[in-house]
Amino acid sequence: MFYKINTYGCQMNVHESERIAKSLEKLGYTLANDDNYDIIVFNTCCIRDTAEQKILGHIGKLKKIKKSNPKLIIAIVGCMTGQAGKAEELLKKYPFIDIVLGANNLEELEYAILNLQTRHKKTILTPNDEKPEIIENIEYSRTSMPNAWVNIMYGCNNFCTYCIVPFVRGRERSRQPQAIISECESLIKEGYKEITLLGQNVNSYGNDLDDENINFANLLESLAQIPGDHRIRFMTSHPKDLNEKVIDIIAKYDTLCKNIHLPIQSGSNKILKDMNRHYTRENYLEIVKKIREKMPLCGITTDIMVGFPGESEEDFNDTLDIVRQVKFSGAFTYIYSPRKGTKASLMEQIPYEIKSKRIQKLIKEQNQITKSLSKSYEGNVYRVLVEDTKEEGNLCGRTDCGRLVTFSGSSELVGTFKNILITKSQSASLFGRITEEK
Ligand code: 5AD
Ligand code: SF4
Repeated sequence: MFYKINTYGCQMNVHESERIAKSLEKLGYTLANDDNYDIIVFNTCCIRDTAEQKILGHIGKLKKIKKSNPKLIIAIVGCMTGQAGKAEELLKKYPFIDIVLGANNLEELEYAILNLQTRHKKTILTPNDEKPEIIENIEYSRTSMPNAWVNIMYGCNNFCTYCIVPFVRGRERSRQPQAIISECESLIKEGYKEITLLGQNVNSYGNDLDDENINFANLLESLAQIPGDHRIRFMTSHPKDLNEKVIDIIAKYDTLCKNIHLPIQSGSNKILKDMNRHYTRENYLEIVKKIREKMPLCGITTDIMVGFPGESEEDFNDTLDIVRQVKFSGAFTYIYSPRKGTKASLMEQIPYEIKSKRIQKLIKEQNQITKSLSKSYEGNVYRVLVEDTKEEGNLCGRTDCGRLVTFSGSSELVGTFKNILITKSQSASLFGRITEEK
């Protein structure tokens, strides 16, 4: 019996697919390496309409396959299914779907499959429980050695007016620090070299627990002190919650990567207010200043959205201006996409042509910045974790500050730290060679 998982969306989903894989393996399935599979799971995303349309297109293609192989199990899980009325809509449009589970119901997958196999019953489960219990000791079939993801919290409380996440993932729930620390210790013992802590807003970690000593700064410090040759990253930080204590802890420990993903979304105070972000451009610039005072080489990456309702040319120019000022080491840029049920979807929308022109301008601006930053890496040596072989003899890995570097070497080096001299840069790409220099 073979399984296939199609994963869409963020790192959280990629990690949750490792959990889905484990559930399927426990039932006796193995990963398919061609188009012969007995079950296919779609781990879905709905952050933008483009994501959803792509997934729906892929599900639609299964109609034919299911006709020729009626025993094929089709499961649709994750964020997309948690939107109001979505499960019904999916089943109406694609009656051949067997299982639908929300992002907070993944533990039901094994039962749902058994239920289908033994009682021919479909399972459709997307309850709107905003604060489900945290399940500990989840097993994962991890596939990205030497990197591992560790969830530190689930859900989001922020209700940015454009965002669907709080509706489909529920309120913030933090794991107990001891559970996180034990998981990280085990991973390090198993040989993982880089752990990325995951949460929608890691800086509010612990706010929902009744103990003022449980907060993100203290968690980071405990994790930084685990002995061994490894490093720790985290994402995502919200500018309203990233405090000086956290910045100090990151600066203090070599095991904590000097890399902060800090979505700005917009450079206009009016738009930030309408987005319900709870910070101004001035606050944002102040945080960047503090980070750079304490960690001059810290890579700051961001998410930026254009075309939010009411965004004038002046608002957009404020975004361009802050992009020029901050010089992000990387930026994910998005066209605002109205999401049903969110406040912003009810506001007056901007024509697509304007959004499209703005994003092109923004991408052009950021590309120039990335290019000149890349150039500044040339001639310097960085410690890189060798993560992957691109093709025989070609390796790639990341610097502490998060930049991807390509260099030559044998695949045995994957999972080790090497010093790399950057010899060439090409827009966002860095190339180098292994060196003994430091
Ligand atoms: N439209 C476009 N982009 C969005 N994001 C979140 N919601 C939307 C939306 N409705 C972006 C934000 C967020 C990133 C993960 O996705 O920039 O930080
Ligand atoms: Fe969405 Fe805002 Fe929560 Fe991020 S912080 S998941 S953008 S609501």
